[in-house]
Amino acid sequence: MPAEEAKGRLTQSVSEAAHALRAGGLVAFPTETVYGLGADATSDRAVAAIFAAKERPRFNPLIVHVRDSAQAKEFVEFSPIAEKLVQAFWPGPLTLVLPRREQAKLSLLVSAGLDTVAVRAPAHPLARSLLEAVGIPLAAPSANPSGKVSATSADHVIEGLGEILDLVLDGGSAPLGIESTVVGFENGKPVLLRPGAVTRADIEKVVGPLGRPAGKAIASPGQLASHYAPRARLRLNVDAVRPGESLLAFGKPLPGAVRVVNLSAAGDLKEAAANLFAMLRTLDNTAMAIAVMPIPQDGLGEAINDRLMRAAAPRS
Ligand code: TXA
Ligand code: MG
Repeated sequence: MPAEEAKGRLTQSVSEAAHALRAGGLVAFPTETVYGLGADATSDRAVAAIFAAKERPRFNPLIVHVRDSAQAKEFVEFSPIAEKLVQAFWPGPLTLVLPRREQAKLSLLVSAGLDTVAVRAPAHPLARSLLEAVGIPLAAPSANPSGKVSATSADHVIEGLGEILDLVLDGGSAPLGIESTVVGFENGKPVLLRPGAVTRADIEKVVGPLGRPAGKAIASPGQLASHYAPRARLRLNVDAVRPGESLLAFGKPLPGAVRVVNLSAAGDLKEAAANLFAMLRTLDNTAMAIAVMPIPQDGLGEAINDRLMRAAAPRS
């Protein structure tokens, strides 16, 4: 798409974005984690347009973004544990998968055939103003073509989906840079469906140990092995760079790389999470092979390593 035309899709006006959403449009907006590709969650047509734009498999359900827990309760049943989690982490980067209320005024497509809905109240000021202004719940997956690297800036959204969406509400870089943590429930016990921006340790402080999803079916259908796939090949946990490789470093870079991009020279996981997707894009535009230094598994490292493993997985 010509640069001029792409620029025309960018806006900083919350009311313009809200208007487009109420008219059934597709509007990308910033959240504290990554940009979301938003549409009216009550409209089958609008939600179907999200699946089409991303070429997202129909079996992969969408997160419904809400203002607060009061709005969420119109759509899902809260348990006491869910209540505790919401008290501790909303608004913020925690998504809860909860039983769908029978009378929920939401498109069935957001649940993709499951009897649950994933809900989250984002903390980003622009996302909050937008949800306030628009009044309706917004279905919003990450604003990237399905299986590709998530978008942490308006430019990245335009790069992947600029042809298809109506507007991008431009809020600069998404501050956390990694998606929300998704927690579901099995037999009333909380289980970690996707590690993310709220760490396991922080959640466990509030509700005790998190279980692993036990089901044979993919509990969180978005957790497919190959995801966040760059074109370049990734090699993880390297202790030596091979000839021709570019390096995604963490801490003091290993020698010998064609090009070095450092997630955090100081070895800070928060900084690394914020840089991850943008740096994968940068390397992907120039490198054929990317060596990735080890990232510790504690704190945000669990989410970072989850994304790197999917980025490195063989393509289906
Ligand atoms: O930070 C985020 O969560 C971002 C921003 C835009 O809010 N959104 C995001 O959406 O990452 P998406 O669609 O890329 O990932 C949502 C994940 C997927 O793995 C999906 O399978 C899972 O949540 N999910 C959604 N609804 C679910 C449900 N009812 N049951 C189980 N998993 C669900
Ligand atoms: Mg995604």
